[in-house]
Amino acid sequence: MLSGSIPDSLGQLQNLAYLVLTRNQFSGQIPVSLCSLVRLSELSLDQNRLVGRIPAQIRNMKSVSVLRLGFNKLTGQIPESIAALHNLWNLNLSRNLLTGSLPDAPFAKGLPSILSIDLSYNDLDLGAVPSWTRNRQLSDVHLAGCKLRGALPNFSKPDSLATLDLSDNYFTTGISSFLANMASLRTAKISNNLIKADVSKMRLPGQISALDLHSNRLFGSLSRILSRYMEVVDVSNNQISGRIPEFSVGMKLKVLNLASNKISGHIPDSVSNLAKLEKIDISRNQITGTIPASLGTFLQLHWLDLSINRLTGRIPDSLLGVKALRHASFRANRLCGKIPQGKPLNIFPPIAYAHNLCLCGKPLPPCKSKMKRKMGQ
Ligand SMILES: *[C@@H]1O[C@H](CO)[C@@H](O)[C@H](O)[C@H]1NC(C)=O
Repeated sequence: MLSGSIPDSLGQLQNLAYLVLTRNQFSGQIPVSLCSLVRLSELSLDQNRLVGRIPAQIRNMKSVSVLRLGFNKLTGQIPESIAALHNLWNLNLSRNLLTGSLPDAPFAKGLPSILSIDLSYNDLDLGAVPSWTRNRQLSDVHLAGCKLRGALPNFSKPDSLATLDLSDNYFTTGISSFLANMASLRTAKISNNLIKADVSKMRLPGQISALDLHSNRLFGSLSRILSRYMEVVDVSNNQISGRIPEFSVGMKLKVLNLASNKISGHIPDSVSNLAKLEKIDISRNQITGTIPASLGTFLQLHWLDLSINRLTGRIPDSLLGVKALRHASFRANRLCGKIPQGKPLNIFPPIAYAHNLCLCGKPLPPCKSKMKRKMGQ
């Protein structure tokens, strides 16, 4: 809860090696005096309320290897002099109000040690992924919301990149060859772009475990995208069609979000092979058939959304076994019969069961027994 401006006099601590003021309420500008701390190896001022420009004198901090200024209100351009920081491996300027683009020339030879860069969510207009980042052995690249356009780029050292976030941009093409090249990619977020591609033709990097492609214009069927090593898959809000593929034993999926597509067919019984499943959302599709009783075997499932489909039959009693369930929705299907009575199913609000054919029992009104109906009640 420290507030006020960062004291100028900190710049006199000539032997200071680490200055971490993260997550306070410091305001005012970054004191230029800090730039004379030639032994500083980490400067983390992220998550404060700092304003003004990043001082060009930052080039004097020869030892700095970690520079985190994210989540402030810094304005102006990213100073070219940052390229002079020979020891910098982690640069994080995300979530500020920085403007302009990033000139290639000073960076082409600069930043020889850089491994991780995060410039996401500023007012930058980069247009394309800067070519100097594509020629390095970077392991982490975060350029979300940087006004990137056109085709996804090629990285010349595709076997170093492990984490990539290019979401909230305007990419339209090139995803298939891009993913096929990225041998070492483990986590990729390319959500909320304008990418039109056939998911059934995508060849995924061998090691990838998390893929977020929600809110694009993907089409085709899911057959290839749910590979054995995937832990988190979000392809919601696309135009994917076809059926949900069979799941094999040993699959590692924890989060599966297929919401708002055009998927049809049944929920395969083999869904029970997803022993680690924590969250599944298949809402807003055209899925038919019954809810497989095998869903009841999930010990860690806490989010189940089957709403707005064409499911028929009963809600299986086996779901009473999913003790970790915190959110469930069966809304707007064609389900019928008594809602299994007991926790966690009867603690959800009535809306979770609304707009079905004939569901009854708590939290909805009680079922009318045949006997009572016969007796005219
Ligand atoms: C960059 O800094 C922001 C603010 O502290 C943080 O939320 C974000 O996770 C950081 N990015 C990376 C790649 O660590």
